[in-house]
Amino acid sequence: MSIRTRPNPRLSAWSAAARSIASSSPASLFRNSLQPVAHDEAQSDSRNVRMLRMIMFGKPGAGKGTLSGRLVKKYDILSLSTGDLLRMHIQDKTEIGRMAKEIVAHGGLVPDELMLQVVTSKLDHLHNKHWILDGFPRTLAQGELLNTHLNKQNTPLSLVVNLDVPDDIILSRISDRWVHLPSGRVYNLSYNPPKVEGFDDETGEPLTKRPDDNPEIFARRLEKFYSTTSPLLDFYARLSQTRISPPPHRHPHQHPHQLAFHTKPPHRLMLQSISGTTSDEIWPQLETVLKDAFPGLKERVDSADIRRRHSLSDAIAAASVAASMPSK
Ligand code: AP5
Ligand code: MG
Repeated sequence: MSIRTRPNPRLSAWSAAARSIASSSPASLFRNSLQPVAHDEAQSDSRNVRMLRMIMFGKPGAGKGTLSGRLVKKYDILSLSTGDLLRMHIQDKTEIGRMAKEIVAHGGLVPDELMLQVVTSKLDHLHNKHWILDGFPRTLAQGELLNTHLNKQNTPLSLVVNLDVPDDIILSRISDRWVHLPSGRVYNLSYNPPKVEGFDDETGEPLTKRPDDNPEIFARRLEKFYSTTSPLLDFYARLSQTRISPPPHRHPHQHPHQLAFHTKPPHRLMLQSISGTTSDEIWPQLETVLKDAFPGLKERVDSADIRRRHSLSDAIAAASVAASMPSK
């Protein structure tokens, strides 16, 4: 599916924002620092399945939420969006929500320690699960805190995907974005419109505009990305060159010299940049990366089942058409 570009008066303000940002955007930073990196043994779980512990990285509006949602729908993966979590806190008026409300509304970044707390309180329940982090980390300090935390738990990151989408494409998407706040489901009037305009496909509840999706605030978010978040790419490029040996797992009654037989091979973080402007370009690349590097990923039974039912009904329909044809 390709993006339909059509004249849109709302876009003029966005284009102005894009021009001011694009002129200061070190676009080459991404391409240079993100060549695909070969990886060896990624850390596996107790059943020896290579675990997906992934960061979906990209500018605001690059499609992190949309693509994570698609992966979660198709595969047995969980995803955690810090933006969605914060919006829920803000809506529920929790203490975190009260602290974050103004910052999010103005396109700033919530303090690192608070974000780590928000994320790890969820992540620590996801041992032996495949997961994706969307929107975290966003600063070098968050990246380092996350790394230390995961290594301590012996659940290191296995994949960072950078969605490399040009600024002008992003700005045109954002002006057409509508969201279902309780679920985080994202729609776009031209790319993936809801079945009924203005309402969520699954619950029928009304869709809303994000308050931080106006040209002025969005420009600030994009600026923040370039100044504060993009240096993380170099951090992950360096990590992807480093082999990490997991600490040996020792049974309480095991003699130390037996350790060699029970250590897992060292693993390396895999870093992959995916460029494109349409889902036709981005989705197949993303799926290929995941399928190749994580062969143990399972499709959800319901999605495989729906496809089976579709192909079964296709077969029945084809058979009944054939039966109704006059025989030669
Ligand atoms: P967050 O909600 O994470 O916002 P963001 O990173 O700015 O990213 P977005 O959600 O805007 O974009 P997206 O990449 O998910 O794109 P989407 O899939 O929607 O964070 C919000 C705020 O919370 C931050 O500004 C900050 O204040 C705070 N915060 C969050 N995490 C934090 C942290 N770690 N530390 C500190 N503060 C934090 O897609 C965009 C649009 O494009 C949609 O309309 C979609 O339908 C459309 N689209 C997607 N893919 C395609 C495609 N292939 N073709 C055409 N259209 C497409
Ligand atoms: Mg998002």
